[in-house]
Parts: sequence; structure tokens; C-alpha cells
Amino acid sequence: MKNKASLNIKVITGSTREGRFSDKATAWIAEEIKKQKEAVVEVLDLRDYDMPFFNEPMSPSFKQEPYKNEAVAHFTKKIEEADGFVMVTPEYNHGTSGVLKNALDWVYREWNNKPVAFVSYGSVGGARY
Ligand SMILES: Cc1cc2nc3c(=O)[nH]c(=O)nc-3n(C[C@H](O)[C@H](O)[C@H](O)COP(=O)(O)O)c2cc1C
Repeated sequence: MKNKASLNIKVITGSTREGRFSDKATAWIAEEIKKQKEAVVEVLDLRDYDMPFFNEPMSPSFKQEPYKNEAVAHFTKKIEEADGFVMVTPEYNHGTSGVLKNALDWVYREWNNKPVAFVSYGSVGGARY
């Protein structure tokens, strides 16, 4: 984390489903974080980053140049500028959502050495995501 006055926290909305509960959980945690005066919060709604399923020949950890896909490049830039993350994830089949896992897989270096917290929910309270 960089030594600076404010912390850039990205809250990632882990469901793109119509009628998603994710909106409520995202709005709640974003408002909670805003109460910390040093935090600058931005919500990254995966509906705004229409990334294909990860399909590159080169693993993100070995890539030499940014991936060409515009949504991926935009998302990667947002991850790069963050100091930390909150992932808002539903539990789907005892795991996280496919759309969030796919977003995680597109990026590597830009996640590195940054703290992450999770807000999880589901039929049994998000206990097993
Ligand atoms: C495909 C699918 C799988 C689910 N699997 C689980 C599960 O394993 N455990 C659980 O507690 N809830 C499960 N649920 C319930 C969801 O966690 C719950 O509906 C949640 O609100 C979904 O988040 P969303 O509305 O933000 O998409 C599942 C729902 C879906 C659509």
C-alpha cells in the first residue's frame, strides 16, 4: 500500500443477475466505508465491465502487455489504482459467482499485495462462498 493520506477502496459487485441482491449489499458496505474519512470509495459493478470468459494463451501472471479487450483493460486499470478491495459476493453452489471469479482471473499483478475483504450473502448467509 502506498503511503498517502487517502485510501482508494474499490467495492466490487459480484453479481450481474437481474434482480440481484448484490445492489443492496454493495450500497450498504460502500456507505459504511465512506464513514472512514481517509477512504475514497468507488463501486466497480461488473455489469459495466463486459469481460469475456478468460481465454488468453498467456497467463495474467506472465503477460508482458495489457490485454487488448477494452473492458478487461478498463477493469485492470481500476484494479491498478486501488489500495484495497471489498468483494461483494453471493454464494452460488457453495462458491463465489462465475462472473466474479472470471473478473479475478483476468488480472494478476494489479491485485498483488493489496488487502481484500469479503461481504458474502446467500440462502445460508454466505457461509460457504
Ligand atoms: C445459481 C445459484 C446457486 C446458488 N447456490 C447457493 C448456495 O450454494 N448456497 C446458498 O446459500 N445460496 C445459494 N444460492 C442463493 C443465492 O446466494 C441468493 O439467491 C443470492 O441472493 C444471490 O445473489 P444475487 O441476488 O446478488 O445474485 C444460489 C443462487 C443461485 C442463482
